[in-house]
Amino acid sequence: MRTDTPPPVRLVDYRPYPFALDHVNLEFFLEPSKTRVRNKMTGRRVFGEHALMNLHGENLKLISIALNGHILPENQYEQTDEGLNIHMPAGEFCLEIETEISPEENTQLSGLYMSGGRFCTQCEAEGFRRITFYPDRPDVLAPFDVRMEANKEKYPYLLSNGNPGKSGDIGTDRHYAEWSDPHPKPSYLFALVAGDFDVYTDSFTTMSGKETPLAIYVDKGDYDRCAYAMDSLKRSMSWDEDVFGREYDLDVFNIVAVRDFNFGAMENKGLNIFNAAYVLADGKTATDADFEAIESIVAHEYFHNWTGNRITCRDWFQLCLKEGLTVYRDQEFSADMRSRAVTRIKDVIRLRARQFSEDGGPLAHSVRPDEYARIDNLYTATVYEKGAELIRMLRTLIGDTAFFAGLNRYFDTYDGQAATIEDFLNSFQLSTSENIKEFANWYSQSGTPVVTASGVYDSIARTYTLTVGQRTEPTPGQPDKLALPIPLRTALFSNKGRRLSTKLNGEINDEHLVVLRDFEQVFVFTDVSSAPIHSLNRGFSAPIKLKDGLNDANRSTLAAADNDPFAQWEGLQTLARGLLIDLASNEDGSMNDRIHAFVDAIDEAFTAAIDDPAFASLILRLPSVGELIQDQNASDPSKFHAARLTLKRAIARHIENSLVATIQNQETGPFDPSASAAGRRALKATAIDLLSSLQNEHAQRISDNFHSATTMTEILASMNALGNIEGGGAEGELFDNALTVFEEKWKDSALVMDKWYSVQAMSVRSDLRARLQRLCARTDFDLKNPNRVRAVAAAFAMNNPVAFHAPDGWGYEFLTDIILKVDGLNPALSARLATAFENWRRFSSDRQIHAEKQLRRLDDANLSKNAQDIITRALA
Ligand code: PHE
Ligand code: ZN
Repeated sequence: MRTDTPPPVRLVDYRPYPFALDHVNLEFFLEPSKTRVRNKMTGRRVFGEHALMNLHGENLKLISIALNGHILPENQYEQTDEGLNIHMPAGEFCLEIETEISPEENTQLSGLYMSGGRFCTQCEAEGFRRITFYPDRPDVLAPFDVRMEANKEKYPYLLSNGNPGKSGDIGTDRHYAEWSDPHPKPSYLFALVAGDFDVYTDSFTTMSGKETPLAIYVDKGDYDRCAYAMDSLKRSMSWDEDVFGREYDLDVFNIVAVRDFNFGAMENKGLNIFNAAYVLADGKTATDADFEAIESIVAHEYFHNWTGNRITCRDWFQLCLKEGLTVYRDQEFSADMRSRAVTRIKDVIRLRARQFSEDGGPLAHSVRPDEYARIDNLYTATVYEKGAELIRMLRTLIGDTAFFAGLNRYFDTYDGQAATIEDFLNSFQLSTSENIKEFANWYSQSGTPVVTASGVYDSIARTYTLTVGQRTEPTPGQPDKLALPIPLRTALFSNKGRRLSTKLNGEINDEHLVVLRDFEQVFVFTDVSSAPIHSLNRGFSAPIKLKDGLNDANRSTLAAADNDPFAQWEGLQTLARGLLIDLASNEDGSMNDRIHAFVDAIDEAFTAAIDDPAFASLILRLPSVGELIQDQNASDPSKFHAARLTLKRAIARHIENSLVATIQNQETGPFDPSASAAGRRALKATAIDLLSSLQNEHAQRISDNFHSATTMTEILASMNALGNIEGGGAEGELFDNALTVFEEKWKDSALVMDKWYSVQAMSVRSDLRARLQRLCARTDFDLKNPNRVRAVAAAFAMNNPVAFHAPDGWGYEFLTDIILKVDGLNPALSARLATAFENWRRFSSDRQIHAEKQLRRLDDANLSKNAQDIITRALA
């Protein structure tokens, strides 16, 4: 255990900055090895007579400081590990600082770095301090003017935030460009890009009639893969006007795609920078999941312009203020663009896979935590995904009218400011008669509430008494939990599956909002005409785990009868979850009756859904191993995997003909990225996956499909399926043949090759370990490229539970080896990979011994602060 852990940053320690900046002027002399940065800040002291001015700085070479036009003598400032402290006079100041940095040596991808021979920046959360000395905190806002100078031939495009200004040549081989951003912004939204690109342009006329040029800058040769991102951008701009009344506010909007990026994308004002994986797509190289991700991430970053940029965060504890709200907005956008039910189901799958597991382990933290060790590690599923669920719940609790009134009040009141969750919630409190005081506890309490329900019918009084309780397990630092307000959309069905119109709180309806506020509460429905079956948390109205007390027969009835597709899907998932957990501990064949009943229920729902293939494919989906182990102890993932395989086989056998027919349905005509065409391909992919559970019976058919398929979705589904057919004979060759063909075709396209890596990292074949070793030894396995590292390491650790949790510990060792190699280059990435260990204590004791051994190895390795933070918490 390391002892030099720095103290955490705490919310209670927040203090406003004693200085205000009126203007920032930046000049860049761009060279890969030595870039000069001149930073001129004008401003004034706002309070505190003697306060030092703290400027953050990291990895900077200080060249000079001048205050009010004079070189600052050395006794008027001090340089520390964190930056500079300057003794400032009262009143106004003009501070000029010149520094030197080396973008080419920056492998952390934070600050100014090179990617594919181009300059680019990433400043959130604390990257700006790696560019110049500055109050690098989100509550210091200023308008920025930027001037860049660079070699003209190598870097013909010079971009920054805001509106373009003057540009021109300097001598024969250099040029410059100026940009000016009138909207005051914090440093984390600063961006700069310089390089050569293909430029895909279009324009959008905003609601007030302003024509705004749009451009997407991509690697040379990628021009033809920009259309979908551009289309998504235009739809996002128009949707934000229609639904939230928000108009774009600069003369231009630019997106740049870069190859090396730690996250999905970044919302820098007027200049969004994207991981190329979330920009580039065409019918040949991208899967439907890629198209969907592009649409939602383009929207997400664009929506940040209002929720994040115009109104930003006072400090990083408020991160969910922009992220939770913006995820909520992008989810609503996707729901409007595609199928609302299918979108909701996918959001819930993701929440369960990523956030519930985080909330149930040693890394659990609240949506707005009150302390953190490393800010980079706060970009979590809890802040993002649970943060979005809180917004959705708030809307459910106060209703649409108050929700939009509150949101408009928030935009009006805090525009141009750095706000807090209290500011946000207060805007809603002023717009509703509902008391939302207790709702705020959702932001401070971590852990996923478990809600239990049971009901009693009184046939004489015609009442149904529903008793609902909540309980949240302790999480790190929070032993005692409060009762939270939990909105449960609730309907009652007759045992024939008819939705009953009933009365609750004086209101007659066939669906009610039951709000559980205490640890236990009783709700009495009246006018209940027959003994009902309750359906709770419809639409996943609250991010909870539900123990609804129903039996399998009741659930099957609901699944067959419910007209709400989410509730129907959820009913079947709950059935499947119970069955799989029992199957994993009963291998004696005693469960055949339950399996048959389940398969019948699936078949019925599947047949009914056949006109909506996207939904039908979700009906056929079984809960993942990761989801199944969440509430288990001492678990053996291979047993859950085996249980899934048993159930998949039963389903596949039962509807085999229909699955085969689905596969044979060939696509004709040009590629169509629409949700409905994607739905048909999703069903095909699911059919391929299910048939592969019958092992070599359909291997040849799947291989043929691989060779004849025209879309990446199908090609990948076929490769995945072949990779999951165990055995070294003909089937093994089919997989390897497919890989060879694929590699030959796509070896020059990095994004497509990432898929080739992932397919192998996710395969469950016995040769996996050697295969991974071979992959990591390839020259194109570039540890500096996060997409490539994730394609192997994250795909393996997060999506291949059987191999990652191999009983002899090789999976843990393999991941640890990669973390150790990556950490010196890119701490944000190594820390992210290390979170794969988060639930190590849930596994069987032999696995725990191996996992702990690797965690200790990491703990002893003197890793980056980011990785160390994760390891320390995982081991605590
Ligand atoms: N703010 C970005 C987003 O959510 C995510 C991000 C965080 C990107 C930190 C890079 C670094 O859209
Ligand atoms: Zn975001």
